[in-house]
Amino acid sequence: MKLLEKTTLGNLTLKNKMVMSAMTRSRADINGVVGDMTVQYYTQRASAGLIFTEAIRISEEATGSPLTPGIYTPEQIDAWKKVTKAVHDQGGLIVAQLWYTGRAGHSIDRNGKLPLAPSALPIQGAQHFTSQGLKDYETPQEITIAEIKQTIKDYGQAAKNAMEAGFDGVELHAANGYLPSQFLAESANQRTDEYGGSIPNKARFVLEAMQELISTVGGDKVGIKLSPFHPYGNMILDDPAGTYTYLVEELNKLDFAYVELMKRSPYFPSPAHYPADDEIDLFGGMIQQTVIANAGYDEASGEAELEKGIAGLVSFGTLFLANPDLPKRFEVGAELNQPDRATMFGGAAAGYIDYPFLASNE
Ligand SMILES: Cc1cc2nc3c(=O)[nH]c(=O)nc-3n(C[C@H](O)[C@H](O)[C@H](O)COP(=O)(O)O)c2cc1C
Repeated sequence: MKLLEKTTLGNLTLKNKMVMSAMTRSRADINGVVGDMTVQYYTQRASAGLIFTEAIRISEEATGSPLTPGIYTPEQIDAWKKVTKAVHDQGGLIVAQLWYTGRAGHSIDRNGKLPLAPSALPIQGAQHFTSQGLKDYETPQEITIAEIKQTIKDYGQAAKNAMEAGFDGVELHAANGYLPSQFLAESANQRTDEYGGSIPNKARFVLEAMQELISTVGGDKVGIKLSPFHPYGNMILDDPAGTYTYLVEELNKLDFAYVELMKRSPYFPSPAHYPADDEIDLFGGMIQQTVIANAGYDEASGEAELEKGIAGLVSFGTLFLANPDLPKRFEVGAELNQPDRATMFGGAAAGYIDYPFLASNE
């Protein structure tokens, strides 16, 4: 099975082609510090070829949701050291996903401060999970050029901190309607300066953030997650194929390790003017870096995707959440545990570190 074959990514050697995709679990403390349960959660999943952490806030300003971890205070960095050491001790590899939420946040969990976003345009038709329950999205404050420059620097500092914490690399979270993807979408970006208007202007933020990460830690430790046709977070682009084609062509000029390409989900239908093409077929073939295919894969479809030859690896989210020993289960053709939606975000050990492993004789 190709999924279980060894491979390389940047300067890393992976024991299989099964990546655990990033999943927010909202189990950090109020200071954004992860604890022993998180050490155990990731260590249990160390048989993945590579683990992407849950999204990690690069700064206080990056905050959008409660109980999500950060990587900008000494306490946060020290806590991540325990995670990376334990995963490495089990023979695993782990990359930090770097996060800035932008308008997908709420002032309740930002010390009363409105979120910053490309333009003062709120997310429509959805509510945000806050520490005081579900709330309507607020109209964010337009981020200034000085704040954009500071944010780019914060990505670099967070990447440096991730190296200090022992991570094997960093992933720019440019998917799912958070700040980098907000810059690409007309539904969030109506700026008239060099960060809005034309496609090159809208792509500028993502490219500058990537350049900052690459120059800080070296391209072989850097990747990016994109979700071109996924409208989650009210991401509506006038020309999604043209915008992401431009972005991919510009990313091709940079020297880094991989693009994790997340396909749209059947649960979030894209707008009528979007192309029907499969994202891996459409963009994957253009991408110079290694492609990691994501969203909705199981063993058969993941294997088929690798057979097609565009993607070098496949990342699995919910299947890894519910099956700490997913590679083993694929190997022996075992039944899979089903994910429990009620315990995905927040809570304690239940639904976090108590998903059963296969018995050793299975
Ligand atoms: C509980 C949960 C939390 C998630 N949090 C993140 C996140 O922090 N960063 C991210 O890039 N994607 C996040 N995702 C999306 C997953 O990484 C993945 O792209 C998605 O679940 C599709 O893959 P799957 O069909 O294999 O689950 C999350 C998904 C789930 C189920």
